[in-house]
Amino acid sequence: MEPFRTQILQLTLLWMSAVSSSEPTSLDGVVNQNVLLQCPCLYSDLSDFSWKRNDETIFSLILPETVNIRLGFKNRLHYFLNDKGNCSVLLSDIAVADIGKYQCYMGYKKTVDYGEYIQINVTANYNVSFKCDTDEKQVYQCKASGGYPQSNIQWRLDGQPLTSTMEVHKDNTTQLYYLTSKLLLNETKGEKLECVVGNIIESCMLESPNPTSSTQIAVAAGVSVSVGMMLLFGILFGLFIFTTRYRRQEKPMDFVFSRKQRDKERRDSETAVSLKADEDV
Ligand SMILES: *[C@@H]1O[C@H](CO)[C@@H](O)[C@H](O)[C@H]1NC(C)=O
Ligand SMILES: *[C@@H]1O[C@H](CO)[C@@H](O)[C@H](O)[C@H]1NC(C)=O
Ligand SMILES: *[C@@H]1O[C@H](CO)[C@@H](O)[C@H](O)[C@H]1NC(C)=O
Ligand SMILES: *[C@@H]1O[C@H](CO)[C@@H](O)[C@H](O)[C@H]1NC(C)=O
Ligand SMILES: *[C@@H]1O[C@H](CO)[C@@H](O)[C@H](O)[C@H]1NC(C)=O
Repeated sequence: MEPFRTQILQLTLLWMSAVSSSEPTSLDGVVNQNVLLQCPCLYSDLSDFSWKRNDETIFSLILPETVNIRLGFKNRLHYFLNDKGNCSVLLSDIAVADIGKYQCYMGYKKTVDYGEYIQINVTANYNVSFKCDTDEKQVYQCKASGGYPQSNIQWRLDGQPLTSTMEVHKDNTTQLYYLTSKLLLNETKGEKLECVVGNIIESCMLESPNPTSSTQIAVAAGVSVSVGMMLLFGILFGLFIFTTRYRRQEKPMDFVFSRKQRDKERRDSETAVSLKADEDV
């Protein structure tokens, strides 16, 4: 009676794990972050539990406290076994190499049990750097660094896709991708240039072929010319006042005549100056 029941239980468990293995739960991990691999268990009956990745044991604990952690998971795997029964493990500092199918195993005093398969998928966000200034001859460069899985760099000019080539480098250790794309644009008219990597879009406005900067220069030149003219007139006017005063002091004899004469001269030149100033404004 007793062995028969155990057999049925074991068969049921096998069937359950077979069913669950056909549709593994997916967990999305992000590089450098953590994932919690859930596995409830019955603490009162438990004698040991372990975790496998792709059918290779990465962690095992034999009660009360014999722990084995596979190289590469040391310091990254934490367990929470307590009297409520929690065979979950937290895997921290996720890397691309952690992609795989995970499963927990529970050794009870009279039987064994398996948790459902958990598929860990890993992604890493690309760091996109893109500048609108060209160093070489009208070549624009967009870089997408440290991402996973492999992606593409696409260019758009005012929303229209452009064709370009892309260099792909894969880091052997981290398995992360580094993409570089260069685009040659020999004519720009102030369009919007976009570098698109997945859902990341970096954009900038291209320079139009210089009409803005040349008018700016013309305006600036005009301003400096009129300032120069005003200064010149100011200096001339000052000189004129100075010389008339000086002459007045030097020749007191011709006082009456020359005063009249000079007053007229002064009025003439003053109107001339103000006329010129008006023209300048
Ligand atoms: C196990 O413990 C972790 C950490 O406290 C918790 O987040 C998780 O929900 C627990 N899982 C179960 C099945 O109790
Ligand atoms: C996880 O990766 C597998 C295999 O690459 C894929 O079939 C599955 O759709 C992915 N799941 C998620 C949620 O991204
Ligand atoms: C992304 O790239 C920029 C420029 O190269 C760099 O300053 C920054 O640190 C990078 N960020 C990450 C998260 O790698
Ligand atoms: C990285 O992998 C490539 C292709 O497998 C190989 O040619 C190259 O030598 C490797 N580099 C290093 C540093 O291991
Ligand atoms: C820009 O480059 C294309 C392709 O190389 C060429 O056909 C075109 O004449 C170039 N235009 C100018 C203004 O250089």
